[in-house]
Amino acid sequence: MNAPVDLRSDTVTKPSPGMRRAMAEAEVGDDVLDGDPTTRKLEERIAELLGTEDALFFPSGSQANQTGIWLVTEPGTELLIEANAHLIHYEMAGVAALSGAQIRPITTPDGLLTPELVRAALRPASPHVPRIRALAIENTHNLAGGRVLGPAAVDGLIRVARDAGLAVHLDGARLWNAAVAAGVSAARLAQGVDTVMVSISKALGCPVGSCLGLRKEQRARGREIRKRLGGGMRQSGILAAAGLYALDHNLDRIAEDHANAKRFAELLSDSQTVRPTTPESNIVMVDLQTEAQPASARLAQAGVLMSAYGPKRLRAVMHLDVSRAAVERAARILLDTLR
Ligand SMILES: Cc1ncc(COP(=O)(O)O)c(C=O)c1O
Repeated sequence: MNAPVDLRSDTVTKPSPGMRRAMAEAEVGDDVLDGDPTTRKLEERIAELLGTEDALFFPSGSQANQTGIWLVTEPGTELLIEANAHLIHYEMAGVAALSGAQIRPITTPDGLLTPELVRAALRPASPHVPRIRALAIENTHNLAGGRVLGPAAVDGLIRVARDAGLAVHLDGARLWNAAVAAGVSAARLAQGVDTVMVSISKALGCPVGSCLGLRKEQRARGREIRKRLGGGMRQSGILAAAGLYALDHNLDRIAEDHANAKRFAELLSDSQTVRPTTPESNIVMVDLQTEAQPASARLAQAGVLMSAYGPKRLRAVMHLDVSRAAVERAARILLDTLR
């Protein structure tokens, strides 16, 4: 009996033996007290990859996102953001609870913000309306099925934001995927933003962690906020070592996940009962004619794990622990089970 093919998320990966060895051998200090050398090494490496002046290591993408938003907004100001953003739906209303900024969601047909839509959400300063302080971008966009904003699209958004005096935060949990899909560096897609979150626990296969790229002058305040949120970690080098290992071994293979997503969608494309999206990165959304929750339970019984992502929608995410053969098997099982 084969093990189930787990396509629920790219966070389900297990650290490889090489990664575990790197973690076990990491040189560590106390990152809250006077620094952890391996954590610092990861922060410097990530800052270099993002083209930011500095970076901070966090236990999660949510905490790094929330810190980024906290840094670029003030209580009682507004944050413009796409209506299906992770920051709105999956971070426990953190922006309201922590930064005290008001979220103003921008509805898009496909998850992709455009300069026109952002411009339309701006309003002239007035004593009657809140001041808009920042724009948040998500790239790739999770709920939209891993859709990618390329460099020209990002530049357009940043230009509108700058013209309006807004700061920009980038939720780049899957920025590595966006960069591979767009054929540019992660730094190119982060060019001009104020704060940028990237995860090492998704495409890169680490057990824990995300980083926030920021300016040098934001570092002290960023550390303060992280500590307040409970993110001050001591021998964090053990986790950071996984990140350094992943940057050396797992960054260059992300295109395989994108090719597997295409293959998965291709195998489902002739079906009369399910309809896959056309993947741009490592995510495929599958639209069903029936309810997603029971379909997901039946699939799990048959050996394929996929998350319900809407009343009649399932999500499949490719990652480094699923091979091409496993992806093909998952597609066949899905076609048999949801016939
Ligand atoms: C787009 C996006 N942003 C942020 C996060 C948050 O990351 P974490 O689960 O590490 O808090 C996720 C997690 O899936 C995500 O998909």
